[in-house]
Amino acid sequence: MSLRLGDKVPDFSAETTEGVINFYEFLGDGWGVLFSHPADYTPVCTTELGRTALLKAEFEKRNVKVLAVSIDPLEKHLGWRNDINETQNCTVDFPIIADENKNVATLYDMIHPNASATATVRSLFIIGPDKLLKLFITYPASTGRNFYEVLRVIDSLQLTAKHSVATPADWKQGDDVIVVPSISTEDAIKKFEKGVKEIKPYLRYTAQPE
Ligand code: BEZ
Repeated sequence: MSLRLGDKVPDFSAETTEGVINFYEFLGDGWGVLFSHPADYTPVCTTELGRTALLKAEFEKRNVKVLAVSIDPLEKHLGWRNDINETQNCTVDFPIIADENKNVATLYDMIHPNASATATVRSLFIIGPDKLLKLFITYPASTGRNFYEVLRVIDSLQLTAKHSVATPADWKQGDDVIVVPSISTEDAIKKFEKGVKEIKPYLRYTAQPE
């Protein structure tokens, strides 16, 4: 069965380019991004893993651990990793799971048989410190993901987990945020020191909380 938002994500142990890893232990009490790619030695995947490596500091700043997964064997991952480092001018040092027996792919429903009978699609799961699924996206093999968008949604998830706000369309760090509908405007004015702009009774903005 596929995972839904708010579900506890399944734990697993797996062989990776960084040794055998237990997923929950690896995540510790931080956030996690687990993402699948269709196959090693393919062009779009090469750029995706390269971009992720280049954004290492951004993930670390947000206390996010990343792991990639495909059903290729460890030896293949290790050879391909050299190519990624060479061609994308990066150092991939996050684990790439060698999911030859499709254990992780099955647990996370990453194989969509009408897209490909064997390869994992481009699924990406964002997991909170509570091990609950906060967001997932699935792209086809032909379309590389936007990892700046992944960072943007992590910023939104981390902000909205802490404050009674939501983020509007195309929000980015520093922009005004939306007061959640469950708070009355009267209470919002008391709560948000920087003020509340009421456009409609259901559409209220405030400055991004610290
Ligand atoms: C790629 O990563 O470039 C790719 C993989 C599978 C199908 C199409 C493209």
